[in-house]
Amino acid sequence: MAGFEEGDTKKGANLFKTRCAQCHNLKEGEGNKIGPNLHGLFGRKTGQVEGFSYTDANKQKGITWEENTLFEYLENPKKYIPGTKMAFGGLKKAKDRNDLITFLREETSK
Ligand code: HEC
Repeated sequence: MAGFEEGDTKKGANLFKTRCAQCHNLKEGEGNKIGPNLHGLFGRKTGQVEGFSYTDANKQKGITWEENTLFEYLENPKKYIPGTKMAFGGLKKAKDRNDLITFLREETSK
């Protein structure tokens, strides 16, 4: 299976705005929405954001979020984490995932 490749941050920003932002904040201190705040996501294990009520499925997945785990997860979240309550069908195009992950890596670490 193909893995993550560097993408286009600007295109990623637009994807985040249209596909993720209704449920997720990115910046420190912005709090949780329907989904957990994604600040500091890279290098963190699943289900670690304080004050967010995760499903057991998300908490117990036990992987570390980085480029390649996100690349697989975002293609089909319900396949990667069966039982997740994240209501998002997935980004089927590898290029879209690469753009989004490139953007996220930058924005979640500011
Ligand atoms: C309709 C709301 C919704 C949308 C849209 C959505 N998410 Fe989520 N997301 C959630 C919820 C709710 C959870 C927690 C899932 C659980 O506990 O099972 C979650 C969990 C996650 C996690 C795991 C976080 C952790 O701490 O383990 C990541 C990463 C994530 N989402 C990224 C994204 C990205 C990137 C997008 C856009 C492509 C997106 N989500 C779109 C609601 C959403």
